Amino acid sequence: MVDRCICFSKTFSELKTLAAQHRIRDVAALQTVTEFGRRCGLCKSYVQRMLDTGSTIFPVMAVPLHPFENPELFTELPGDSRRD
Ligand code: FES
Repeated sequence: MVDRCICFSKTFSELKTLAAQHRIRDVAALQTVTEFGRRCGLCKSYVQRMLDTGSTIFPVMAVPLHPFENPELFTELPGDSRRD
């Protein structure tokens, strides 16, 4: 099961709370209030699913969303230099 961004040690439950506090419904906006998803990026599909469904624990996705299918999930933020 998947319940967190491993790279930044943020659970989806923590991210859900922040999203609710800031009335956020998309990954890029949530990344403006806390760090997650900017290393391997594998958690982003799960976070978007969390935002869409409210669930915070997921089975491993057989085929994670690909950047070309959902480019809005993989947009770099201004000043994000960790991908360089
Ligand atoms: S698991 Fe979230 S950036 Fe790697």
